Amino acid sequence: MASDKHFDEVTGTETTGHVWDGDLRELNKPLPKWWLYVLYACIVWSIGYWAVYPAWPTMSDYTKGYWNYSQRAAVTQEVADAKAAQDKYRVALSQTPLADVGKNPELLQFALAGGQATFGENCAACHGRGAQGGVGYPNLNDDDWIWGGQLDNIQQTISYGIRSGHAKTRDSAMPRFGLDGALDAAKIGDVANYVRSLSGLEADKTAAGRGAAVFAENCAVCHGADGKGNQELGAPNLTDGIWLYGNGQENVVTSISTGRGGIMPAWDARLDPVSVKMLAVYVHSLGGGK
Ligand code: HEC
Ligand code: HEC
Repeated sequence: MASDKHFDEVTGTETTGHVWDGDLRELNKPLPKWWLYVLYACIVWSIGYWAVYPAWPTMSDYTKGYWNYSQRAAVTQEVADAKAAQDKYRVALSQTPLADVGKNPELLQFALAGGQATFGENCAACHGRGAQGGVGYPNLNDDDWIWGGQLDNIQQTISYGIRSGHAKTRDSAMPRFGLDGALDAAKIGDVANYVRSLSGLEADKTAAGRGAAVFAENCAVCHGADGKGNQELGAPNLTDGIWLYGNGQENVVTSISTGRGGIMPAWDARLDPVSVKMLAVYVHSLGGGK
């Protein structure tokens, strides 16, 4: 190794003075200045970062840093803020009569969103995610209501249920004409034909003619002389082509025979009043408010 100043002949660059094997020399090519400054800046930055933020694990904990920052605390704070914002609306909702919720666009928006979320959690299992219903579970999107589609009808249905066993439940039920022997199979067949004819379905005309008398005598008291139903009694409109239990002759015969007696649970003990209110507003908005 020699240490005299020396320039490489080929490139003209100064060498470091290190020599191996007699004439193998190392060019002196220092790192570019900008690169070094970036490196120094990074070091300074990391020391600063290390000092103010949590950085270093210790045996039982970690260094908290000068700012004492914690992501968990930040999230907790955000959740608390969101809850405070919600509480504001919840309080407003609890003080606003059901009928007036729609007059305040901001409140309405909150109620619809809250109602939709609550619906997904509690009601979709039976009524479907889009409230489209299924056999035995009414579609809540159409404006055909068994028990009434005004806001307060809907709120009552949701709060106390239908044949739910709740003290205030909606509980009128159709008699089990076949099971209880009130009508024989022939009469049930006749009246089923008549009922199907009411909504324009193909039916045996003679049977339907006989069925009309059976209907007037046994069914009109609830479903109305014209078969258009009665929401006070939860007796569906039989003329509108919307069927809860299917429109085949077999389906209709079964409905008349068994009375069906669908059950909708009561929610007043499971959901708070504001949630029920939001649900009522949401469900009402689906069905066009009729
Ligand atoms: C266990 C199944 C079930 C669940 C869960 C359920 N429902 Fe129902 N719901 C029914 C049935 C069955 C009926 C029809 C009862 C009948 O025969 O009149 C009904 C009827 C209704 C009606 C009356 C429809 C009309 O045409 O008058 C409304 C409104 C309603 N449900 C809303 C809800 C809401 C809101 C929830 C969630 C909080 C919910 N339901 C949860 C089964 C259910
Ligand atoms: C006491 C009142 C009452 C009487 C009387 C009554 N119904 Fe009903 N009917 C109802 C109710 C309530 C329902 C709804 C049952 C349910 O939702 O589970 C219903 C449902 C039906 C359905 C099913 C409708 C659908 O959309 O699927 C048919 C069909 C029907 N009734 C026909 C008759 C016929 C025919 C008679 C006479 C033989 C009759 N009902 C007598 C109350 C009555």
